[in-house]
Amino acid sequence: MTRGNLSSEFLDEVRSKNDIVDIASKYMTLNRRGGNFWACCPFHSEKTPSFSIKQDAQFYKCFGCGESGNVISLVMKMENVDFYTAVEILAKSAGLEMPTEADNAEMAKRKRDRDIAYQIMRATTEFYQDNLKNAPDSPQAQYLKKRGINAEMIEKFKIGASLNFDDLPKHLTKLGFKLDDMIMAGVVARGDYRVYDFYGKRLIFSICNGFGDVVAFSGRSVVESPDRTKYKNTPQSVIFNKSEILFGFNYVRDLKKQNLGLDTIVIVEGHIDVISCHQVGITNTIGCMGTALTTQHARRIKQLVENVILCLDGDSAGANATYKAIDVLKDAGLNVRVVRLEGAKDPDEFIKKFGKANFLDKLSTAIDCVDFVLTDSAKKYDLNSNAGKTKYIKEALNYISKFSTPAEQEIYLSLVQRLVKIPIDALRKSLNTLGHKEVKSKEPEQNVDMVQETLNDNYITESKIMLLSAVLYKKIDNLDEIEILFKGNDELSRLYNYLKQKLNENKEYNVSSLFDNFEINNNSLIDKVINYSFPADDVFANGIKETIARVKLYEIQQEREKLTKAMSQATSSEEKMQYLVKLKELTDLYYKEKK
Ligand code: CTP
Ligand code: MN
Repeated sequence: MTRGNLSSEFLDEVRSKNDIVDIASKYMTLNRRGGNFWACCPFHSEKTPSFSIKQDAQFYKCFGCGESGNVISLVMKMENVDFYTAVEILAKSAGLEMPTEADNAEMAKRKRDRDIAYQIMRATTEFYQDNLKNAPDSPQAQYLKKRGINAEMIEKFKIGASLNFDDLPKHLTKLGFKLDDMIMAGVVARGDYRVYDFYGKRLIFSICNGFGDVVAFSGRSVVESPDRTKYKNTPQSVIFNKSEILFGFNYVRDLKKQNLGLDTIVIVEGHIDVISCHQVGITNTIGCMGTALTTQHARRIKQLVENVILCLDGDSAGANATYKAIDVLKDAGLNVRVVRLEGAKDPDEFIKKFGKANFLDKLSTAIDCVDFVLTDSAKKYDLNSNAGKTKYIKEALNYISKFSTPAEQEIYLSLVQRLVKIPIDALRKSLNTLGHKEVKSKEPEQNVDMVQETLNDNYITESKIMLLSAVLYKKIDNLDEIEILFKGNDELSRLYNYLKQKLNENKEYNVSSLFDNFEINNNSLIDKVINYSFPADDVFANGIKETIARVKLYEIQQEREKLTKAMSQATSSEEKMQYLVKLKELTDLYYKEKK
């Protein structure tokens, strides 16, 4: 059985339901250190751990022997089984059924549905945008004016208007879309007597996935009326998963791709908050659209940055949401800071009232979230009474042990000490009895020799796999830069040329399309490209330049070795001379690249 029968969606599900740390801990003893997990490598013998697992990125790498992979490859190696069997083992442990032939038909239908849903979203977005442009006096246009949203933001956020309930279904029908598909995409609904625009007469905010494709809408009521809900949102659909999508994420992702040193993301609640921030140039802002942040949201954020600032609404709902969000974001390994607004209900109002400079000031003085929780939760207790103190200390120490490294603990303990006025030693002792194990050993140093040693054929292939995977998953789009690595007639070069051709033709390519064009089995390199698990984006971005450079150097070295060998077999001094010239060229190139 090849992996071709297993859809990428199914594999995604298997991977997402099997945390690599949980699975790995069945085979080895893991220690948490500096955000990663470490163990002695199961693939080569060693005494100090150099096998590391990055939980957020769900992959492992051994700095000693260079082995790396995801949860599936880990099981393949540990159980000595093929790809399909490894997936079977993981599916079973997560309580998932393996897909059958009927499921595959279902998959094909899903793919078809997704394609159509994207098309419908595109057509509907254009329709709403045109409506807004052509009706400058409409209540929707007036509302935007009243809220001070400018033309540039209207364009950027693909804001539009639904002017009535009938035109959208008619328009989409004219374009050839079927009613069932419109309903499936979530833009049209069936009433008792007619079908109607689901967002009828509302102001439309377009919601995009990470690539900027519209996957949902939020329709805001622009008439004050108690019987109209403020927002109508697209229900969950084949292309819209509420717990993964964040409003504005695609723009922040673009910022990251431009390599402008994005290191913090600001999270706000409302659409208009996001738009207001972007309008004044605070473009690293995204919106949670009023819902609780999920682990998936947090993971996606972690792929872009290490730091977030939570700036939710000033009301008590916003305060509760802040507490919950801190947990989720911290769990994902993010550094979280908090801003609580006063004098304005949300960032939009704050900016309008006090200006951009004051808002930036608020952001720059955001306080560390553990600090925030320790200080804020103290307000619940009467710290002058012993009972109050005891309860608070318990809560505070729990929090500290959950979320801080040993170094941070001292800082937080002294904060608690100031609040409860109990000797810090006593607090420290209580904290240690909470079962927190102090971690003494250091992460292994990644010395230069080790890096050199890994620069072998394996490293080169691994690197090429990573680069192609980055192209495939649209993490990099400059193919020219890596062209030099894919000049051969091997499998990876063929994949490179395929992707390049698609890009040149401006055609979409996706993972499943590869199965139609290549022989893919669990030994093939393309399979590895598809399954490559990226480290966090920042690690990746820093690493990628280096990787390209090193692979280039390697290729040059290989070429030099070939030439040297050929030269030793040269029969005439003239021939030898020619080789020498070429070698000299390569040497120059080598040192040029090495700089
Ligand atoms: N929201 C929603 N449905 C509602 C209310 C709110 O989906 N009935 C979501 C929207 O994504 C909204 C966010 O929660 O943007 C924040 O809610 P709220 O502050 O009420 O709306 P805003 O869009 O921020 O509008 P306003 O400027 O009036 O605060
Ligand atoms: Mn709001």
